[in-house]
Amino acid sequence: MKNVGFVGWRGMVGSVLMQRMVEERDFDAIRPVFFTTSQQGAEAPVYGGHRSVLQDAFDIDALKALDIIISCQGGDYTNEVYPKLRESGWNGYWIDAASSLRMKDDAIIILDPVNNQHIQDGLNKGIKTFVGGNCTVSLMLMSLGGLFTNNLVEWASVATYQAASGAGARNMRELLAQMGSLHTQVAKELQDPASAILDIEKKVTDFTRSGTMPTDAFGVPLAGSLIPWIDKALENGQSREEWKGQAETNKILETGNNIIPVDGLCVRVGALRCHSQAFTLKLKKDVPLSEIEQLLASHNDWVKVVPNDREITMRELTPAAVTGTLSTPVGRLRKLNMGPEYLSAFTVGDQLLWGAAEPLRRMLRILL
Ligand code: HSE
Repeated sequence: MKNVGFVGWRGMVGSVLMQRMVEERDFDAIRPVFFTTSQQGAEAPVYGGHRSVLQDAFDIDALKALDIIISCQGGDYTNEVYPKLRESGWNGYWIDAASSLRMKDDAIIILDPVNNQHIQDGLNKGIKTFVGGNCTVSLMLMSLGGLFTNNLVEWASVATYQAASGAGARNMRELLAQMGSLHTQVAKELQDPASAILDIEKKVTDFTRSGTMPTDAFGVPLAGSLIPWIDKALENGQSREEWKGQAETNKILETGNNIIPVDGLCVRVGALRCHSQAFTLKLKKDVPLSEIEQLLASHNDWVKVVPNDREITMRELTPAAVTGTLSTPVGRLRKLNMGPEYLSAFTVGDQLLWGAAEPLRRMLRILL
């Protein structure tokens, strides 16, 4: 049995990873060692019946004893510990949720339903570092893999609708607190069917602009609004989140010099943990819609083509329907007025499952 270290297992992505590993009985196949940055020596969680105490996450000697390390601790931890560990001669497998190592030549971005062959080739070549992709990229490729892997996409333009969870646990709490504070302002008026809706709206808007809403995490109100910027600004006017779209997609697909342009606008909305994305795809040729649907539906076990029907779309192609599931539906498929090679698509996926934790646990399984 392999010794597998877990760092950052208590955070949001880590907790979802633990939950999925319990569901899939992954702990039966490993000897887990749990690390901490603050509670060394305390009792470790008992998953799969393994009892132990928490080890120091900065103890290079303790980490060196492991065959595999999975980190959901974040980029700062990776930046500090990973180089020291490799310099110490450790040759184990490092599986990471953070972005720090993603674009390194000796690291593979893991999304095995899309790039299993790349992963297997990498393992044969001795690659030891495997990193989960950006959530929007992974979710896009889970939903639209049938078009990308059949080399049908000339370019993709995207507008994202990203959930609060992508920004962190504090942000999710803040979104809900903001929602509650808005409602509180007008709860009385809402109970009176005769009250004027524009007066209610004005009260809410005035409150939103009053500077008294909780905004420590997001910086501005998100409830009842949106934020058309995610992550840092780059010099070319893109946000870093927007930059990742093309960079990571092409790395996952190993397109080499034949880069598929992927660009658009990344927007934070008031959803909890599902990222949605609206695409305009320019295809390399005029493919009939029925063939497109068939290619998409048959790409992997989790994608589902939602018929372009109002009722079904409202029921099935929303964060409310998809949250907490591994389903990565795609719908609103139709040819656009721009011409027969132009396709619209709308995707939804749980940012913490296929967008973060699931590729990590599947990589672990590949290594066992
Ligand atoms: N950067 C993403 C977001 C998180 O802010 O939604 C997933 O990688």
